[in-house]
Amino acid sequence: MMRSAMQLLHHGLLCLTAFFASTNVLSNAQAGVQGVSAQYLLGLGIGDITGPVVETNMMGYASLAQTDTGLHMRQRSRAWIVADASNASNRIVFINADIAMGDTGVRRSIVAALSAQYPGLYNNANIALVSTHQHSGVGGYLEDLLPQITSLGYVKQTADAIIAGTVLAVQRAHNSLAPGSLSLGNTTVLDGNRNRSPSAYLANPADERARYEYDQDKDLMLLRFDDASGNARGFLSFYAVHGTSIYENNTLVSSDNKGMAAHLYEAMVEPDAMPGNNTFVAGFTQSNVGDTSPNTLGAYCESPGEPWDGQLCEFEHSTCGNRTEDCHGRGPGFRDSNLGYESNRIIAQHQVDGAKTLMGQSLPAVSGPVKYVHTYVNMSFREFELPNGTTVRTCPPAMGYSFAGGTTDGPGAFDFVQGDNSTSQNPFWEIVKGAVTPLPNQEQIDCQAPKPILFNTGFAHWPYEWSPSTVDVQMLRVGNLVMLVMPGELTTMSGRRMREALRARLIAEGVLGEDAYVVVAGPANTYAHYVATREEYAVQRYEGASTIFGQYTLEAYIDKYSSLVSYLADNATGQPESDPAPANQTGSAISLQTGVVFDSAGIGHSFGDVKTDVRNASSPYKAGEAVIATFVGANPRNNLRLEQTFLSVDQLVNAQWKAVRSDSHPSTTYQWARDSTILGTSTVNITWVVESGTPSGTYRLTYYGDSKSIGGSITPFVGHSSNFTISS
Ligand SMILES: *[C@@H]1O[C@H](CO)[C@@H](O)[C@H](O)[C@H]1NC(C)=O
Ligand SMILES: *[C@@H]1O[C@H](CO)[C@@H](O)[C@H](O)[C@H]1NC(C)=O
Ligand SMILES: *[C@@H]1O[C@H](CO)[C@@H](O)[C@H](O)[C@H]1NC(C)=O
Ligand SMILES: *[C@@H]1O[C@H](CO)[C@@H](O)[C@H](O)[C@H]1NC(C)=O
Ligand SMILES: *[C@@H]1O[C@H](CO)[C@@H](O)[C@H](O)[C@H]1NC(C)=O
Ligand SMILES: *[C@@H]1O[C@H](CO)[C@@H](O)[C@H](O)[C@H]1NC(C)=O
Ligand SMILES: *[C@@H]1O[C@H](CO)[C@@H](O)[C@H](O)[C@H]1NC(C)=O
Ligand SMILES: *[C@@H]1O[C@H](CO)[C@@H](O)[C@H](O)[C@H]1NC(C)=O
Ligand SMILES: *[C@@H]1O[C@H](CO)[C@@H](O)[C@H](O)[C@H]1NC(C)=O
Ligand SMILES: *[C@@H]1O[C@H](CO)[C@@H](O)[C@H](O)[C@H]1NC(C)=O
Ligand SMILES: *[C@@H]1O[C@H](CO)[C@@H](O)[C@H](O)[C@H]1NC(C)=O
Ligand SMILES: *[C@@H]1O[C@H](CO)[C@@H](O)[C@H](O)[C@H]1NC(C)=O
Repeated sequence: MMRSAMQLLHHGLLCLTAFFASTNVLSNAQAGVQGVSAQYLLGLGIGDITGPVVETNMMGYASLAQTDTGLHMRQRSRAWIVADASNASNRIVFINADIAMGDTGVRRSIVAALSAQYPGLYNNANIALVSTHQHSGVGGYLEDLLPQITSLGYVKQTADAIIAGTVLAVQRAHNSLAPGSLSLGNTTVLDGNRNRSPSAYLANPADERARYEYDQDKDLMLLRFDDASGNARGFLSFYAVHGTSIYENNTLVSSDNKGMAAHLYEAMVEPDAMPGNNTFVAGFTQSNVGDTSPNTLGAYCESPGEPWDGQLCEFEHSTCGNRTEDCHGRGPGFRDSNLGYESNRIIAQHQVDGAKTLMGQSLPAVSGPVKYVHTYVNMSFREFELPNGTTVRTCPPAMGYSFAGGTTDGPGAFDFVQGDNSTSQNPFWEIVKGAVTPLPNQEQIDCQAPKPILFNTGFAHWPYEWSPSTVDVQMLRVGNLVMLVMPGELTTMSGRRMREALRARLIAEGVLGEDAYVVVAGPANTYAHYVATREEYAVQRYEGASTIFGQYTLEAYIDKYSSLVSYLADNATGQPESDPAPANQTGSAISLQTGVVFDSAGIGHSFGDVKTDVRNASSPYKAGEAVIATFVGANPRNNLRLEQTFLSVDQLVNAQWKAVRSDSHPSTTYQWARDSTILGTSTVNITWVVESGTPSGTYRLTYYGDSKSIGGSITPFVGHSSNFTISS
């Protein structure tokens, strides 16, 4: 999701197991699939993709004010390879990247690197770059202009980190390829999501709604990966819930609920491995996420002093006293942590519990071919026939007014509200919108109706494309499972219609039988915003206003994906004809972010010196307490320390220091602040909240930094706090 490009205008800038681990899952073949010969070669891998953790805009809420100031948990890409054992060059690569959305430019580079390194194995068609859709990661990596606005353009360092870490994850998966088997199942996770636009959902036909118990999908589907002996190596799961547990006022880079769920599961299976150094790979993938929210308690007014403070927001427009800004969704832990961290942990745990349930069962085996299909589709003015025979067409991209209203997960700015298709919410915008993007012509107005156009992005080509016109359409098949890899965020009902139509078509064409299992994964590959149903589109809440190709966007995707199912048939060969790939825009990308000039420790100090120390060893810390030390710092943009750490908690074991926590443990945080731009001085805080069960003993905090000299050379350094003790 993306919100307020106008913020920039506003700033005048736009003129331009632990329990399973033990026995069940890892060593007991009972829970796995038995009697199935290894039909597949399976590979799993993980890589660190964390970009610059300070002085960079964060991606998801598109808030100019949300500039990162440190690290809570690292972002990672996880990769699963499934190859057909009878023809190992026939394979698919599913990447679950802990980022807000897939991107054409990042994907292009990943595909280029992998196809050069492994000729004939990995290509543009069999690699899917799926995002967790989290909203607390590093921004600036997207190729189109609209999502770059709040990050002051393109941030190459972010894109490079995502590309390098993702390629590493696939390399590790490739190097781990071994015979194995797959199995598949589903369960329900009731408390993990809530509809954030129920008034739009209610616009769907009553008889259609009557077929479903909830206004959200509660299914968690899991594909289990076993080795040849039936021991679990990991899994890929699908569940729809926005990565917005952590609020927009957090500025520490984190992984939101999907990345947290993966960490919790992996740490349960391999409790002694540092985060990211595990071999069991847990996949929590995003699905039809559009109108889902992890803020399961509902949306309330935060309007101190007003009579409606603390009341539920108004239903249709999510306003408080007619204003959007004060309406905020509440997660299950909102009372315990006002940045959303506790809610994040709870929503992650619900997904972990769902996955654990399935991993503890004997699931039906998956067997059958590995197939994939990919094509580029130009979605501007695509003509096609609806099932009733009427010819309709899609439109060049445009954002509606309610796009600027934001959502209850991250409300919009100024006077914009959701659920309004009147054209004059804000007279200021009537005047300036033509200066931002070209005013729509009558054809575009009619095509996008009933959406009133705020940003006519499909006609904005200067200085480069604002929104994609060309999207990636992709499907991956393993046996009876088909993954619809979608370039946007489908709402709950859109996802249901899409899955149902594709499942029916797969069966009708004889590609799959009645056991066909179809899931949606996304937003993936390219970011083409939202996909609401036609009925939801008429209501124009945020999801409808962000459905960029017009009211028939969903039908166009159903039409296109359906036309390609024959490429997934057992005997299918080759790939379909494709529209031209989107142009590589990174060469012309504008970047306004300035680099690190230099670092200085200040007179009389050295980098890594302790400024404020931990408590004396004679007064021990207890579980639940925060251990904090402050150091003379340097800018972490000098070295991202990918696959490494900015900090460690060291324990004295047999007179040797052993690192027991890294910067990616949820219990630690790394915070950086500049003291003086002129002098180049900065401070780092390292915090560890002692977990219950931490062994008594002697510990210290260690800070790993890298300083830049005036000449430009970068030098690593290390700082230690004093020793402290923990007594349980
Ligand atoms: C093996 O798979 C590759 C990739 O799909 C395909 O090009 C090739 O024709 C297949 N080989 C055989 C013998 O089927
Ligand atoms: C989930 O699994 C159950 C039991 O195997 C099955 O009946 C149901 O159709 C599955 N759900 C979906 C969405 O396929
Ligand atoms: C990662 O795991 C391997 C194998 O268990 C171990 O040898 C290595 O020291 C670990 N690395 C880190 C940074 O923990
Ligand atoms: C909100 O708008 C309605 C309709 O214009 C108006 O009647 C009401 O007084 C407004 N409420 C507030 C608190 O401004
Ligand atoms: C962060 O935002 C949430 C949601 O608006 C709010 O409830 C909380 O008080 C804010 N926390 C801080 C520290 O500003
Ligand atoms: C997409 O199709 C439209 C309408 O045919 C055309 O004007 C536009 O140039 C195409 N865009 C690309 C990138 O090919
Ligand atoms: C086909 O469906 C569309 C969308 O509901 C509708 O506008 C059109 O009138 C229908 N055409 C026929 C021939 O019923
Ligand atoms: C919004 O669009 C719908 C569907 O076209 C229409 O019924 C409704 O009256 C419109 N609302 C406004 C405020 O224009
Ligand atoms: C694949 O098999 C189907 C069903 O048996 C058949 O109709 C189709 O022609 C075959 N396609 C190819 C490319 O052999
Ligand atoms: C995209 O363009 C940039 C700048 O021209 C170039 O460095 C890069 O290699 C291109 N990417 C690919 C995958 O071709
Ligand atoms: C470090 O913590 C202190 C005390 O809470 C706070 O005043 C300071 O702003 C923090 N510095 C950074 C870099 O976060
Ligand atoms: C901390 O403990 C280590 C290991 O026992 C010891 O070498 C070191 O001198 C201690 N540091 C302080 C400041 O007491």
